[in-house]
Order: sequence, then structure tokens, then C-alpha cells
Amino acid sequence: MLYHIVTFGCQMNVHESEKIAFILESKGYKLTENREDADVIVFNTCAIREGAEDRMFGNVGALKKLKKQKPNLIIAVCGCATQKYSTGEYIKNKFPFVDIVIGTFNLHKLDDYLDQVKFKKVFDIWQEGEIDEQKSYLRSSGKNAWVNIMYGCNNFCTYCIVPYVRGREKSRKPENILKEVQEIVNSGLYNKITLLGQNVNSYGKDLDINYNFTKLLKDITSINGDFKVGFMTSHPKDITDELIDEIATNDKILKEVHLPAQSGNNRILKLMNRSYTREKYLEIINKIKKLIPNVSLTSDFIVGFPTESEEEFQETLNLVEEIKFNSIFAFIYSPREGTVAAKMDGQIPEEIKRNRVNRLLSLEKKLQKEVNKK
Ligand code: SAH
Ligand code: SF4
Ligand code: F3S
Repeated sequence: MLYHIVTFGCQMNVHESEKIAFILESKGYKLTENREDADVIVFNTCAIREGAEDRMFGNVGALKKLKKQKPNLIIAVCGCATQKYSTGEYIKNKFPFVDIVIGTFNLHKLDDYLDQVKFKKVFDIWQEGEIDEQKSYLRSSGKNAWVNIMYGCNNFCTYCIVPYVRGREKSRKPENILKEVQEIVNSGLYNKITLLGQNVNSYGKDLDINYNFTKLLKDITSINGDFKVGFMTSHPKDITDELIDEIATNDKILKEVHLPAQSGNNRILKLMNRSYTREKYLEIINKIKKLIPNVSLTSDFIVGFPTESEEEFQETLNLVEEIKFNSIFAFIYSPREGTVAAKMDGQIPEEIKRNRVNRLLSLEKKLQKEVNKK
């Protein structure tokens, strides 16, 4: 019995696919790289931009034929896209050959659903759920071990679907994280541990103990062993001097900071509900550069947010020029159903958005050459 997993989206999903693999292997399935050979195919989906959803629809739709040839094939779709009501329903109606549709809060139940599906189709999307500490992972990212430290997001940036499909911020208990890291170190298989969360800087705020992300980093790096720790993503509004100091002085922490700016213009940042200004962002970056001399800085930007003018976009260009990141990700704004920004007047035409992203990317290419040379 063979399984195949198709993963879309961020590292969070990449890591959760390692959980799906664990569940499938514990039921006796073995991995195949070949979709056509599989007895179970799982799509772990993303909803962040329209493109991610479209690719998923294309992939799932293409399996209709295979399912006809192999009626016993089990097709499961899970992850962020199914959690979005309209998409979950769409899959159910448009792709009746899909056997299991589940969301982000009940992934750990895949086990049971695989038993149930022998008798009837499963369509089960929860609106919330507890953190699952029972299931393990089949790690498959080389010498890097992902460790999720928190789920969900409370920030509601006006363009973003994540809070709607991943729910409110929930931090794992420090003892559970430390136990997992200890096991990873004991295995001797990994030399890097990457901590994951939508906003790791606010780790612990929802726990009723006096504990935060810097303390977690201290506790993790005090575990004996030869490993380095990285993390993503940091939100500029929650980054503290204490944290910057810890990165600067702790040998076990990688000197890498991914700090999405999204825009260089204050009016747009405000409309995005990012809770910082261009000046504040620059202040943080300068502090990081000063205290961590060889730091690798990366960022995310969105171009063509509703009402963004040419001049405002140029402020993004000159922010990128000024900071000289090691690399950036530039995204075309994609309206997401149910978010505040999707309903805003002044949506930017597609060709202008494309023109802006191209200009930002060619600036990035030019700057990267200089930075890498250095
Ligand atoms: N939690 C992280 C980001 C998660 S999403 C943070 O706040 O930094 C990863 C990136 O996708 C974001 O940084 C943003 O640049 C981009 N993104 C999110 N929603 C988007 C949308 N509707 N359109 C285009 N890009 C988007
Ligand atoms: Fe989305 Fe903002 Fe949360 Fe990041 S911080 S996941 S961009 S709402
Ligand atoms: Fe990640 Fe996409 Fe979900 S970016 S959190 S997989 S919407």
C-alpha cells in the first residue's frame, strides 16, 4: 500500500505533511514519489493567494481519470484552503471523486477518517481545535528538523486569510516543545532546528505563565548538543531588544532574521493593519544590523494593495534599496474572500500590479548581486 503527498504553501504545511506521512506510515503505507502508483493521495493545501488555490484545483481535478481507473484509490484534501468555507464546499461539489475533505483543526484525526472512508465519504471541517501533542512526525527535510511552537494568528492584517483558516494564536507548552527538541537532538540525525509560527515573537502571550519567545530560545539552546536554531516568522511589531540581544549573543542561534515589511509606505502599512511605521521598521533593522554584524536579513513585500499609488509603491522600492536585504519575496496582492482588504475600494488593475512586482524583483536582482559580492 503506497501513499503520495502533494504539499502547497508555507513551511507550516511542509511540516504538517511530515505529520500526515507519520500517520500514513503508522497505518502501514509506504511512500511513493509517483502519483499514479499511490493507493492514497493527500493534498495539503494553501489559501494565501489565489494562485495557490488554483494550482490545487488543477492538481485535484486532474485525478478524476486516475480515480476512474483505480476506484479504490483514496483522495484526501486537507489544509488551509479546505478550511475556507467556500473552497471546502466547492471541492465537495465540484470534485465528487474526492473521498476525504478535512480542515486544519482535525488533521490528527486522519487516522480515523482513513478507516471510516471504507464505508462512506468524509467531509469534516472544524471551526476550532486543541493542539495535538499525540501524533509524531516523519521528518524529511534533511538535517533540518521543523518544530512548531505555536498555531494560528491574532493579527488580522487586512489582506490575510491565515487568521480565518488557522484560528487564534495558540502556543504549545514550553515543556512539550523542549521534550520534542530533546528527542530531535538525541536522535543525532539533525544539526538544525527551525521553530515555526506565524508570529513567533508573540509566543507565550496566551499561556498563563510568565514565559516568552526569548526564554524559549534560551531554554532550547541550553540543551546539550551540536545544533543551531533558526525561526520564522517574526512580526516587526513584537520584536524586542531582549530578543535581538539574544540572537546576537547566543552562539547556537543562527544569525538570520526574516522580518516581513510588506510595504514602505505608512498609509498603506496602516491600511494593512501592520501596527508599525516605515520609520519604526527602519529603526528595528538598524538595531539588528548594529548588534548582529553578519546578519542575513530577508523580508516579504506585497505590491498593489488596494489604493496603493505609484508614489507609495516607490517608497517600497526605496526602502528595499536602503536596507539591502539578503533576499526578499515579492507578492502581487491577491484579494482573499472574507478579509477586510478584499472589500476595499480602489483595487489595483492586474497589469499595474504585475508591472510593480516586476520592477521590485528586478531591483532585488540588482541589489542581490551587490550584497552577495560583499
Ligand atoms: N505570518 C507571516 C506571513 C505569513 S504569509 C507574517 O506576518 O509575516 C507569507 C507572506 O505572504 C506574507 O508575508 C505576505 O507578504 C504574503 N501574503 C499574505 N497574504 C497575501 C495576499 N492576500 N496577497 C499577496 N500576498 C500575501
Ligand atoms: Fe497573516 Fe498578518 Fe498573521 Fe502574518 S501576521 S499570518 S500576514 S495576519
Ligand atoms: Fe501557510 Fe498557506 Fe496556510 S501560507 S498557513 S499554508 S494559507
